[in-house]
Amino acid sequence: MKTVQATAPGKVILFGEHAVVYGRPAIAVPVLDVQTQVSLEPAAAAQGIRMIAVDLDRDFDLAVADPDDPLALIVHLTLAHLGQTKVPDITLTITSTIPLGRGLGSGAAVSTAIGRALAAFFERAIPPAQISALVYEVEKHHHGTPSGIDNTVVAFAQPVYFIKGRPIKRIQVGQPFTLVVGDTGQVAPTHTVVGDVRRRWQADRERYEGYFDEIGAIVQQARVAIEEGLTGPEAIGKLMNDNQELLETIGVSSPELDHLVAAARQAGALGAKLSGAGGGGNMIALARPDHASDIARALWEAGATGVIVTEVR
Ligand code: PMV
Repeated sequence: MKTVQATAPGKVILFGEHAVVYGRPAIAVPVLDVQTQVSLEPAAAAQGIRMIAVDLDRDFDLAVADPDDPLALIVHLTLAHLGQTKVPDITLTITSTIPLGRGLGSGAAVSTAIGRALAAFFERAIPPAQISALVYEVEKHHHGTPSGIDNTVVAFAQPVYFIKGRPIKRIQVGQPFTLVVGDTGQVAPTHTVVGDVRRRWQADRERYEGYFDEIGAIVQQARVAIEEGLTGPEAIGKLMNDNQELLETIGVSSPELDHLVAAARQAGALGAKLSGAGGGGNMIALARPDHASDIARALWEAGATGVIVTEVR
């Protein structure tokens, strides 16, 4: 038995967050510049699985972990999927450059990389659709009603057009484009923000269904603009601004997100919006490639606690 490693990328939602929970489409892309890495090393007989999550400052034995713990749960689900009834003796180490709990898919990436590493350890491979399904089980445990977009884009590591419960459609990007991702530094748990939206939807379904329809229509136009690449990045930028306006209307932006969005636009971004659940976390700005560093600087100056420049292709 030898040491094996596996990785999984981060992600951003380009269009359609929240509405996707209510059956509308959304578009998400991998962020390959940040990654979770899992390595598995064979250990002494009878050790069982020791799990070390470096960034979370955790070091524990699977045997004593709460089976609902997300790190333990993906191990149990993967072993069952692989038909392994005996727990192997290994040390599993997780490191990640994906900021935690900021809408960049860190949870899905950790689960995906663990599942892949375990499969590799047994000299097996789990295809993206199956690993995505295992990771979705973990997401459901911890987020209540996730749409499944995170596990899908992270497992496939490709731009996706996603509708809950339907087979995914990959997006072929007509003309690569550059995104600048800015972190507000605020943590807002996804399930809290999703729950707040649900309460507002329950109180006024008609109005909220209307907002979700409008977001869905933006997503469809965005898909065409991204795939054809002919209309130019301006069209995608305008759709990002339109989507942001609706996200503000449904109450998931925050003063800090609004501030970074405004700073990016002022610095010449073609469009900017929050990404993910909102309430905090990250925003994204569409930049002309030669403008990306200006926008990155403007975001730092506006108080961003982290900035990533990434190309979507
Ligand atoms: O904050 P994130 O990146 O996990 O995204 C949440 C996206 C929502 O649409 C708000 C919820 C979901 O399950 O799709």
